[in-house]
Amino acid sequence: MMRTTAAVREFTGDPVPDEVLFRILDRARFAPSGGNQQGWHVTVLRDRERRRHLADLCSATWTRYVAEQVAGHRAYGVIDPAPPDVEVPDEPTPNPFLDHIEDVPVVLVVTVDLATLAVLDRDLDRWSIVGGASIYPFVHNLLLAARDEGLGGVMTTFLAASEPEVAPVLGLPDGHAIAAMVGIGRPVHQATTLRRNPVASFTTIDTVDGDPFTG
Ligand SMILES: Cc1cc2nc3c(=O)[nH]c(=O)nc-3n(C[C@H](O)[C@H](O)[C@H](O)COP(=O)(O)O)c2cc1C
Repeated sequence: MMRTTAAVREFTGDPVPDEVLFRILDRARFAPSGGNQQGWHVTVLRDRERRRHLADLCSATWTRYVAEQVAGHRAYGVIDPAPPDVEVPDEPTPNPFLDHIEDVPVVLVVTVDLATLAVLDRDLDRWSIVGGASIYPFVHNLLLAARDEGLGGVMTTFLAASEPEVAPVLGLPDGHAIAAMVGIGRPVHQATTLRRNPVASFTTIDTVDGDPFTG
C-alpha cells in the first residue's frame, strides 16, 4: 500500500459517504503520538464559503511558494531562505486542489493542541522537528486509510502559513496549531509507481557518513 499511496489532488465527483469517512478516521486514530497524548483535532469542512475562504488564503501562499522556487530557492526553506522581496506575481498561480476546493468530496483540517506536545529538540539552536512527529503520523494514517477504501488524498500544509487569519474562521482556540488540510476522494488518475530514492541512498551503517546499507 505504501508504494501506491500517492498525493491525489484531483477527484471525481463521486461522493464519499459519511460512514466511509468515519471508518477512515476510526483507523487513523491508532496513530502513534508522543506519550500517547493524541493531541489531534479534525474539522470536517462542509461549508462551501468557508472552504473558498481558506483556499484563497492557501492560494496566496502557493503563489509565493512557486515564485520562490522559480527564483531558485527551496520554497519556504529555513536554511538560506528566499529574501522577502522575491518577485511574486499579482495573479494567483493555478493549483488543481485549491481551484476546485468546493468540489473536493472531503476536506479536513487537522489541528493540534500544543499543550500535548513534548518537543525534545525545543532547546536546540535550530528549527524544531520533533513536535510535528506527534501529529503527522495521524495525518498520514488518514491517507493510508483512504487508500484502503479505494480512495486517494493529499496532505497539504499551506494553510498553516495563514494561521492568524484562519483561526477565527475555524474557531481555532489559542494554543492550537494548524498541522494540515487534507483532501480525500476518488482519484481521477490512479497512481502507479511512486518515484522515491533507493534505500542505500539514505541508509548508512554506524555513522551518518558510513557505508551505505544495501541489505
Ligand atoms: C508535510 C507535507 C506537506 C505537504 N504540503 C503540500 C501542500 O501544501 N500542497 C500540496 O499540493 N502537496 C503537499 N504535500 C504533498 C507532497 O507534495 C507529496 O507527498 C510529494 O510530492 C510526493 O507525491 P507522490 O506521493 O504523489 O509521489 C505535502 C506532503 C507532506 C508530507
